[in-house]
Amino acid sequence: MINILISKYNVLIILLFIATGCIHTSQEPYAIEKTATAPSAMVVTAHPLATKIGVQILEAGGNAVDAAIAVQFALAVVYPVAGNIGGGGFMLIRQSNGEAMALDYREKAPVAASRDMYLDSAGQIIDGLSTLGHRSNGVPGTVDGMITAHERYGSMAFRDLVEPSIALARNGILLTSNEAEELNLARSALVSVNQSAAPFVQSEAWQTDDLLVQSDLAHTLERIANACRDGFYRGETARLLIEDQQSGGGIITQQDLDDYHAVWRNPLRGWFRDHEVLSMPPPSSGGIALMQLLEGIEDQPLDSTDVLSVSTIHRMAEIMRRVYADRAAYLGDPDHVEVPVDHLLDSLYIRSRMQTIRTDSVTPSGQVQEGNWDMHESDQTTHFSIVDKQGMAVSVTTTLNLEFGSKVIVQGAGFIMNNEMDDFSAKPGVPNSFGLIGSTANAIAPGKRMLSSMTPTMVVDHGQTRLVVGSPGGSKIITTVFQIIFHSMELGIPLTDAVALPRMHHQWRPDTLFVEADRFHPDTLMRLRALGHHVIERSPIGRVDAIWIEANGDRTGAADPRGDDHAAGY
Ligand code: DON
Repeated sequence: MINILISKYNVLIILLFIATGCIHTSQEPYAIEKTATAPSAMVVTAHPLATKIGVQILEAGGNAVDAAIAVQFALAVVYPVAGNIGGGGFMLIRQSNGEAMALDYREKAPVAASRDMYLDSAGQIIDGLSTLGHRSNGVPGTVDGMITAHERYGSMAFRDLVEPSIALARNGILLTSNEAEELNLARSALVSVNQSAAPFVQSEAWQTDDLLVQSDLAHTLERIANACRDGFYRGETARLLIEDQQSGGGIITQQDLDDYHAVWRNPLRGWFRDHEVLSMPPPSSGGIALMQLLEGIEDQPLDSTDVLSVSTIHRMAEIMRRVYADRAAYLGDPDHVEVPVDHLLDSLYIRSRMQTIRTDSVTPSGQVQEGNWDMHESDQTTHFSIVDKQGMAVSVTTTLNLEFGSKVIVQGAGFIMNNEMDDFSAKPGVPNSFGLIGSTANAIAPGKRMLSSMTPTMVVDHGQTRLVVGSPGGSKIITTVFQIIFHSMELGIPLTDAVALPRMHHQWRPDTLFVEADRFHPDTLMRLRALGHHVIERSPIGRVDAIWIEANGDRTGAADPRGDDHAAGY
């Protein structure tokens, strides 16, 4: 039965992607593989060249962390829409002996930041200030993150991990059609905030196969390869960054760069039936919300016949709206506010929250509030997954926040700065770019990390890493990762099919059930509306790059058909 269902989905999915033009076509410069199986190692990233570099590092004897560092730098060159050295991210690492660590290289608010910095004198949000231009920049964490990861786990020389990206920046890369389109869409914003928008803007519109050469970025990467931390946070790169801040009205200073340090954190650990789930703790909301979603769906066993059924979608949406109400109220940077992690993950608490779910109607979001207890009681980002031959697994989600971040290109240094400040709650109750609202827990404060939804995750079966997974998508990251785990672990759908399945999302506010356009049966949508859901069809949700490790050790990579994502191994 499962096989019949899966093959039916395969045909459907392939037809849909052909219809929407999402499948690789012959004029593209790279051969893109959406799935690959290999006995030793696997890399899945958003770009074929980044995947290739990751595999080369592994073949040269590097471990999964070495490969992840090389991929992070490579994505900064080949995937500038989200790959970065001017942003931040989270890296989840699990070794084959079961030891796991989470590295937080999330950006921080500059020292000169203040709670109301995006409000006018009447207390209203100033449109665009937290998303476009220098004021929206958080202090970048990526380079410190890579050096911190290397110090603890790296086995190859740091320079060797940066070198391949220097060559790509210097020699240029051929643009895919998606990349050409993204650059063309960002053109006017890039021009509006930069003295020079080179090399990302040229006189003509970009075409597929055009060569993008990034000489300034090559020099910056050279300085990082030579001087590690000081190649970015001090010296020439820092000078260019600070100068650019000053001329563009930004507030990042040398002190901010000196103060920036990535932080090792203990991964969040939970259970979904008998599978152990490892994910990112605060300042990501991802781990906590994912564990709540999984606990919420656990009470009724479901099988593959339930996939995408009206009752399953309804139940998932109702769980999601309750989980996101908690997210808005309680989550923020644990180094600045107390996050009640234990309580939020208490299974009795989560189950009591789900008791109000009805099968025959929706609970309007206005009637759903965050949970209560006695307090004294006790949308561009990119994800990649790597598994090496020793079984070390790395799951990384990294971002500039929105596509090309703040659109600020550090003049003379050639890299793009994030607009991560928009992930703070600039004003309680007012939605950010992802429609997320927040409370004082996620208010702006100097040196504080903004709340994230990035959810690099692993599922472990009887001590063996089984699934390495994550996604971009802003607020939709968490529900995307949830659907992959639910569909693959609970409903038994093979990972490649689970990644391609249509996705839905609910985040409490707005009180809307988002579904990917043209991917759900009209009858399903009609019945969800009849239950009371406000259903809106939208552009693709998430882009999952994941790896499944079989019991015999084979690694299967699944690259999302929604982009240029590419899986390869050896
Ligand atoms: O950290 C976060 O939650 C967001 N800055 C992520 C942004 C994102 O995923 C945009 N991508 N599609």
